[in-house]
Amino acid sequence: MTWWPETDEELNAPRVNEYKYVKEVLDYGWHNTSSPGINMRLEQTFADRFGVKYAITHNSGTGTMHTCLMAAGIGPGDEVIVPPITAAATAYVVIHQNAVPVFADIDPETFQIDAASIRDHITPHTRAIIPVALYGLAPDMDEIMALAREHDLVVIEDCAECYLAEYKGRLVGTIGDMGSFSFQGSKHMTCGDGGIVITDNAEYAKGVRWGMAFAYSSLEAESAPTTAPPKEVRQDPNFARHLALGWNYRLPELAAASALGQLERLEDLVGWRQAVAAGYAEVIADCDWLVPQRVPEGLTNTYWCYTVLLDTHEITWHQFRDKVVEFGGEPIYGAWRPVYLEPAFTEERFYGRGCPNHCPLYEGTPQKYAPGLCPVVESIQPRLFQFRTNYIRPRAQRQFDALAKAIAFFEGRS
Ligand SMILES: Cc1ncc(COP(=O)(O)O)c(C=O)c1O
Repeated sequence: MTWWPETDEELNAPRVNEYKYVKEVLDYGWHNTSSPGINMRLEQTFADRFGVKYAITHNSGTGTMHTCLMAAGIGPGDEVIVPPITAAATAYVVIHQNAVPVFADIDPETFQIDAASIRDHITPHTRAIIPVALYGLAPDMDEIMALAREHDLVVIEDCAECYLAEYKGRLVGTIGDMGSFSFQGSKHMTCGDGGIVITDNAEYAKGVRWGMAFAYSSLEAESAPTTAPPKEVRQDPNFARHLALGWNYRLPELAAASALGQLERLEDLVGWRQAVAAGYAEVIADCDWLVPQRVPEGLTNTYWCYTVLLDTHEITWHQFRDKVVEFGGEPIYGAWRPVYLEPAFTEERFYGRGCPNHCPLYEGTPQKYAPGLCPVVESIQPRLFQFRTNYIRPRAQRQFDALAKAIAFFEGRS
């Protein structure tokens, strides 16, 4: 039976193991070089669940993608293809490596990065693609992987919003060279903030782990009880600690404890979102001007949110939203603006001195981050609604009722 809590108490009741593991951390106490090993357990459990060799926890689903790029050796002069509709993080991390984000357009029905547009944007400088599994559904990974193999590109799947979704029988996140997940507060499984990278490639796993924790020479691809080098090694004044550049993206053990408890019931957490999405689908089934995100055959959608396109010019986005609220619903989110239209991009407020797009090491033609760059996203994004899927049952029901009334109103049935 699908888990769909009726009350806030029911929502919190299954968090027994989260509390247990958090207590384990607190009871162990705080130490410099040792820990109760919860990150290690989280990594191993996650890797097992996804059927991969390596998993590396981080303190965000942004740091995860950054270290993936580091591990892949992406740097100045390189281009990385990203979608325009995503969290800015997907493009930010490219800039953090002093590489150039290149935006490909989206498919107008699935809202995912479009493989044909990726193909159009591949140049001799392209080194990687970050396809985002937007809203809980995978992009066309067969096409993307074919392009990547043809042009020798690294594929980093951004699965921040996508847990346990299937793409033609494979788990999303295990198809590219590396998969990146977020544990931020709105995600299927969360510990407030955090993230994890999965991969089957030992070199990438080691590179990611180095990027995550100061490139300590003692770190390997495999999980270990702590990121710190053993005491007897680090006490030696001649110990060479840092073999490369690395960040501190470590996930605190307390957060890992909460994430581990959530991971153990991930099926419930995903099934709940899918059940709420099915409720929305029923409400809009007969409405031909609210068009849901298309789910291609062979794929499952895990519905981080349920997204619909307002496919009429007779009603504005704001009119529909206001009407839902008037009928007792909660305000609805629109979709993110195309990332390249954010002031950070239009003004190129990056690293100063023109980097990365006008860096002497970059020999490509910089994209102009301005209206007109990706026409499909610019026509679709202003008309998208993202319906929340993490509602307890009565809240969801109120939202369904308000939506139904708003639809009836605009169809002149009430
Ligand atoms: C698609 C996507 N990518 C990346 C991120 C960044 O994750 P985080 O907030 O954990 O850094 C998010 C969510 O915030 C996201 O939705």
